[in-house]
Amino acid sequence: MKTFVNVEDIGDLKAAVKEALEVKANRFGYKSLGENKTLLMVFFNSSLRTRLSTQKAAMNLGMNVIVLDVNQGAWKLETERGVIMDSDKSEHLLEAIPVMGSYCDVIGVRSFARFENKKDDYEEKILQQFIQYSGKPVFAMETATVHPLQAFADLITIEEFKKVERPKVVLTWAPHPKALPQAVPNSFAQWMDATDYDFVITHPKGYELDPKFAGNARIEYDQDKALEGADFVYAKNWSAYTDPNYGQILCKDMSWTVTTEKMALTNNAFFMHCLPVRRNMIVSDDVIESAQSIVIPEAANREISAQVVLKRILEQL
Ligand code: CP
Repeated sequence: MKTFVNVEDIGDLKAAVKEALEVKANRFGYKSLGENKTLLMVFFNSSLRTRLSTQKAAMNLGMNVIVLDVNQGAWKLETERGVIMDSDKSEHLLEAIPVMGSYCDVIGVRSFARFENKKDDYEEKILQQFIQYSGKPVFAMETATVHPLQAFADLITIEEFKKVERPKVVLTWAPHPKALPQAVPNSFAQWMDATDYDFVITHPKGYELDPKFAGNARIEYDQDKALEGADFVYAKNWSAYTDPNYGQILCKDMSWTVTTEKMALTNNAFFMHCLPVRRNMIVSDDVIESAQSIVIPEAANREISAQVVLKRILEQL
């Protein structure tokens, strides 16, 4: 595997989940694969889970790890070509990327949507430059439009907890005080569409995702109706994708918060969220603290999804 961005990059999902469960049962069994290999993790944005789980996964595989927080201690980077660099940005990304590539064997990139230009965000301008100019395999650690390590961990978690072969999985929008990117719901939808689950997306009108990611998912604007009979409820906020409202908050309707009353509509569903989560905005305290909340095992599976991705990259170096 040379890049890990979209669901197609992982190939057959059943085989990927099987491999993930094997890795989980024997996470130190591949330690020689990463010997004398270096992972560089480049963060343009904050992280807790991605940083720790991906570093742990790399260490399980015997890799050396370098973490670069671009906004803390590195030269301020110019990302636009053609600008006269007379501002506080001292280095251009077009030099920085091949330099970074010269110090490592694999690169992970976190670079969120900037909401300045939808085209730049949806063309993955920063990520694509890493792919083009680093000379090394590159994987997404949440970029402008996707978060595949999260979606893969979510899939592993659903496979571990599901009680029926083809569960009903509901992705529900929920309110949030800040405008958030669509990366997590985009990837979750893309990965769920690639399974044979009964997959439903529910959100207020105006929050439609890019059809490229929503795919064949059933869209239901009535959240209560969508939640009926659900086996898994995946809550997430996102800002508007469609023009002219790209990146904007259209409503903060607190009736969309996932509460005990909402969960009572489901088939005793498990509650999922990628974290970090705003309590009593996205989900009530009692739901996230309930026995049906699986947010912690879901986060723990981030180590496993990252390890499978790094393992596959290392196997092809
Ligand atoms: N879910 C997730 O990616 O968490 P972090 O932003 O903390 O890495």
